[in-house]
Amino acid sequence: MRVLVTGQVPDAGLAVLRDAGLQLVVWDGDGAMPRADLLTACSGVSAIVSLISERIDDEVLDAAGPTLRVVANVAVGYNNIDVAACARRSVIVCNTPGVLTDATADLAMALILMVTRRLGEGERLVRSGEPWRWNMFMMLGTGLRDRRLGIVGMGQIGTALARRARAFGLSIAYSNRNAADAATVAELGAVRLGLDELLATSDIVSLHCPYTPDTHHLVSTPQLRSMRSTAYLVNTSRGPVVDEGALVEALEQREIAGAALDVFEREPEVHPGLMNRDDVVLIPHLGSATVETRNAMSLLAARNVVAVLGGQPPLTPVGA
Ligand code: DGY
Repeated sequence: MRVLVTGQVPDAGLAVLRDAGLQLVVWDGDGAMPRADLLTACSGVSAIVSLISERIDDEVLDAAGPTLRVVANVAVGYNNIDVAACARRSVIVCNTPGVLTDATADLAMALILMVTRRLGEGERLVRSGEPWRWNMFMMLGTGLRDRRLGIVGMGQIGTALARRARAFGLSIAYSNRNAADAATVAELGAVRLGLDELLATSDIVSLHCPYTPDTHHLVSTPQLRSMRSTAYLVNTSRGPVVDEGALVEALEQREIAGAALDVFEREPEVHPGLMNRDDVVLIPHLGSATVETRNAMSLLAARNVVAVLGGQPPLTPVGA
C-alpha cells in the first residue's frame, strides 16, 4: 500500500509508516505541494498524510480514487480538509489533538507578554542601532495582574492557556459552545460569558476556536468596536477568524490597543496595514513549532494511518 505525504515531516512518523511496510511518496519540495503534483501523486494511494498547506477536497479525493481510506492531517486544525467529502467516500479523517496543546498555549502566553510589554517594538529599537537610553517612561507597557483574559474557544489549548494566565495574575472569562467542566471552572475560577460580553469586558482576548463557516470573521468591525480601547487581541487559531482589514482600521482608529498574530487571513501574506505598526506583533504560524511537538504530531499522524490501514480504529479521528 502506498502513502502520500504532502510535505516534509519529522522522520519519527515516516519511520512508523515504513516499519508498517507502507511505501512512501513524500513531497520534499519547498513550501506547499503544487496542486498539479498533488493530483497526480495521490492516484491509487491508500492514505494521505496532509499538511495544512494542502487542500483535500472532492478533486483530490476523486484523483486518489477508491483505494484511499484515510487522510491524516499533521495538525489539530483541519479546515484544509473537506470532511463531508471524505465522509461521502467513507474516507476517515484524523488530526493531531493533545500533542500540541502545551506548545500552542505557551506561544499564546508569549504573545500576550510580547504585545502587552511591547517586546517586539523594543527588540526592533535595539537592533535598529538607534541611540537609546534607559529612562523611567521608556516603552511602558501594561501589567497583567488583575486584568481579565477572555478566551474564545475553551478546548484543550484555551484551557491550557488559562492555566498559564492564572500564574500571571489574570482572571479568566471564556466563551464556548459548552460549559467547561466543574473541576476546570473551580480550578481556574473561570466565568462563562457570551461572546459580546466577553469582548466588551476583557483586557486581552485570545482566540482558540476552530475555523469553520461559523467562525469566518468572527472578529470584525462590530466586535472590535465593542472591545475596550485598552484591550489587546491575540490570534493563534486560524487567520480568517479575524477580519484583517477591520483589524487594521480598529488599530488606526485606536479602538483597541494592539494585536498579536501567529496566523493570517491570507497566509503567508500579511495585510500591508499591519506591517509597520508598533502596536502589533507578527509571527509566522509558530504555534506548534517545537522539535518535540512536531515529532509527536508526525508520530500521531503516522499511527493513525497504520491503525486504519491495519483495520483498527483511528486514534484521533475528527468529529468523534
Ligand atoms: C495546527 O495544528 O492546527 C497548527 O496550526 C499547525 O501546527
